[in-house]
This record gives sequence, structure tokens and C-alpha cells, in this order.
Amino acid sequence: MMKGIFITFEGIDGCGKSTQCELLKDYLTDNGKDFIFVREPGGTVIGERIREILLDKKNTQMTARTELMLFEAARAQITDEVIRPALEEGKTVICDRFFDSSSAYQGKARGMGMEFVSDLNMAATGGLKPDITFFFDISAEEALERRGKRGEASDRIELAGLKFQEDVRQGYLELADNSDGRIVTIDARLGIDEIFEVIKSNLEGKI
Ligand code: TYD
Repeated sequence: MMKGIFITFEGIDGCGKSTQCELLKDYLTDNGKDFIFVREPGGTVIGERIREILLDKKNTQMTARTELMLFEAARAQITDEVIRPALEEGKTVICDRFFDSSSAYQGKARGMGMEFVSDLNMAATGGLKPDITFFFDISAEEALERRGKRGEASDRIELAGLKFQEDVRQGYLELADNSDGRIVTIDARLGIDEIFEVIKSNLEGKI
């Protein structure tokens, strides 16, 4: 049993989760909480190098299996090096994406199989699961529109297109249905403050 609480944020590209991560970080800082914030893939020296390979648009030859294994490798590293030690010390850990991303992106959208990916997720984390996961639900079209407004350059994963993002969303919805309450689905079209209120109310008494 870990002493700290492990919170993850999930959703398709452009769902607005990064904004909410920032709000939660500010909130925890203002309230004097001991926490760390990390992102996947990345968050360690090794993980950031794996991230570069994964997101590099030049890597067009990467197969779905390789992609999956690289995400899992980065995850194994951050779990052992950063997340587990922090939780053992009693810190709150916030992670921008964790293993549900692999289930939705590689398991569902890339067609590797959600159960297969779930087994690999457990192998990569040594069985560690988030205590609570916020899933920001939005359609692929609306998310694309938001990304367009922000004018961000697409990475290799984002290049996969609208149908891919919609499949990812379906993957998340399936995960949420089968998560026994771990995954809290939030309508990402709500206002920024409204969404943050939902997050705070779900974390009440836990952090
Ligand atoms: P990033 O720039 O961190 O995107 P975001 O700001 O949307 O989190 O890029 C991560 C990309 O990698 C994103 O498109 C989601 C994808 N991804 C997977 O396909 N599988 C995974 O297991 C993880 C963690 C991310």
C-alpha cells in the first residue's frame, strides 16, 4: 500500500488536460502540498530520449509493436525511478498521461488489442495503478478545432488523423466503463473553471 496518492490525466490530443494539470499544480502549491508532476512519455533522462524517438515525424517506418514497446519502456523507467519512490515517501504524484494512453492509442486505435496492452501495462509498472484518473472527453473534431486554434505543430502520433483520434476516444470510453470507478469522465467542452471544480470535488479528502 502506497502512502501517496497517484493521479493521472488522460484524453485525446487537444482535450485540454494540460490546462487542468497546470491548475491542479497551482492549487497544490498554494495549499502547501507535497507533490510531483511528471509527463509520459518522458519524465526521466532515458524516458525523454525514448520520447524523441516516439514523436519524431521522420520515424515513419516505426511499427505498431515497436511503438507500444517504447511507450512501455519509458513507463517502466519513470515508474521505478520517479513515481514509486515518490508515492512511498507519501507524495502526491500527478502524471500527464499514464498507461490508459497505451490502452487507448496502441490497444484500441492501433489495433494491438486492449487486453494485450493491459497485460503489458501491468508488466511495465510492476502492477502499480493510478488511484484516480481524470478522462477529458471530447470528440475528435472538436479537439482538432482547438488544436488548430492553438496552431501547434503535429507530432508523429497526432499525424495519424481524425479517425485515429476518434478510435482513441472510443478506447478511453471503454476503459472508463470497465474501470470500477477509477476513471472519472469529464465533459471537456465545459468551461475551464467548471472542469477544475469537478476535479477538486473528486480529490476532496484524498490529497
Ligand atoms: P504529447 O506532446 O505529450 O501530447 P499531449 O500534450 O497530448 O499529452 O505527446 C504524447 C503523444 O503520445 C500523444 O499523441 C499521445 C501519445 N501516446 C501514446 O500513443 N501512447 C502512450 O502510451 C502515451 C503515454 C502517449
